[in-house]
Amino acid sequence: MSVSCVIGAQWGDEGKGKIVDLLAAKSDMVVRYQGGGNAGHTVVVGKRKFVLHLIPSGILHGRECVIGNGVVVDPEQLFAEIADLEAKGIRVRGKLFLSDRANIVFPYHKALDRASEAARGEGKIGTTGRGIGPCYADKYSRSGIRVVDLYDRELFESRLRANVAEKNRMLGLLNAPPLQFREVFAEATAWAKRLKPMVSDTVTQVNDAIDAGRDVMFEAAQGALLDIDHGTYPYVTSSNSDATGVSSGAGVPPGCVKTVIGVAKAYTTRVGSGPFPTELDNALGAEIRRIGSEFGATTGRPRRTGWFDVVGCRHAIRTSGVTELAITKMDVLDAFDTIRICTAYRYRGKTLTSFPADLRTLENARPVYRDFPGWKTATTAARRLGDLPAAARGYLKELEKLLRCRISMVSVGPERNQTVLTGGKLQSATR
Ligand code: GDP
Ligand code: IMO
Ligand code: MG
Repeated sequence: MSVSCVIGAQWGDEGKGKIVDLLAAKSDMVVRYQGGGNAGHTVVVGKRKFVLHLIPSGILHGRECVIGNGVVVDPEQLFAEIADLEAKGIRVRGKLFLSDRANIVFPYHKALDRASEAARGEGKIGTTGRGIGPCYADKYSRSGIRVVDLYDRELFESRLRANVAEKNRMLGLLNAPPLQFREVFAEATAWAKRLKPMVSDTVTQVNDAIDAGRDVMFEAAQGALLDIDHGTYPYVTSSNSDATGVSSGAGVPPGCVKTVIGVAKAYTTRVGSGPFPTELDNALGAEIRRIGSEFGATTGRPRRTGWFDVVGCRHAIRTSGVTELAITKMDVLDAFDTIRICTAYRYRGKTLTSFPADLRTLENARPVYRDFPGWKTATTAARRLGDLPAAARGYLKELEKLLRCRISMVSVGPERNQTVLTGGKLQSATR
């Protein structure tokens, strides 16, 4: 597995952090290529729990970690994350590199994110409030400020002055208070000094690592169904969170990634607004939320829950070229009598097996379910395929067939060792 990528194959929070941490044991370098502080990747090591937002999950194994050019970076949040890790005895200095081309999240991005969400009212996206959309908007309208720009004082000061003036006009229209240029400038000047030792030409660094045959792993944030192009627009995040973002977000050639690991829960969750055909907005959904502790790692919001959606996951598999799947949180389903898989949607008398672009269709699509008997046995101690109850293997085997993609890992708990490597033997093992 020389160059690989781990993506979320649903709407985020699939357990990417756990899987990246697990695979980082055998990697040399872990690279984040998109998103920002909106991400919340949880890694549990023994009794200790780490929640990573901007720093790649490979840091816990002491790997070389890179924040690529496609990430939007809030320095304030980055410093807090570094301090938290160092307080827990994790070495970050000398291990973490920040792209000189990454765009910076400023306080006005966060203020605008909050103000525009408030203005949307009922139609709000339900963002994390981390300034992600407004920062990417500046990047693409070419008024963003990149890490490297912090070190060109004249350019930085004039661009920041223009941006603060523009954002204050926008904030005024949204009835939000303005920001003071002097304050933002002073804060950012202090950031520049603290960031300096981490700043790197990461495009050269990552390409050199690939050329040298080192094991490089790309870590996505969010999930493929939140992708700006291929997700449930406009209820998405503002970057390419599927594997298509790797090339632009890290500056590496398309095609360099040979293994794409799609992470999906054995059911589905979603935070924020937007269509969710298999949602269980009822007592059963609440039970899944309770057992699975489905509360946002970044915002603490309760996650919406529902059954596994093959149509959505197939879409993720195709747009990202997923070569193998990690199915997480199997243990959360241990107690249920019946477990359902949505195999298609019904809409206006038609059966849909591909993920529609039209939100109205998605909102009104009725899931077609296939039912499976629950295994009603704890799976948390399973370490080999044979340790899983036959009904659990039956469920996974069917998922593998419906998704037309090999399941290589099954996670049965948050800890590193609570993982079953299938060795690709799921079909033969359940015969
Ligand atoms: P990410 O954003 O994709 O990294 O996922 P999150 O960290 O936001 O959410 C996944 C949550 O599920 C975290 O609290 C993990 O510790 C936890 N988790 C991961 N895998 C498993 C599993 O197999 N079983 C259980 N019970 N929890 C898991
Ligand atoms: P990880 O990496 C789940 C969702 C938000 C909202 C939409 C847009 O932990 O899987 P944004 O702040 O990005 O503008 O919000 O995207 N969202 C996530 N949902 N997991 C995440 O990250 C998410 N990051 C953003 O809830 O619906
Ligand atoms: Mg998360």
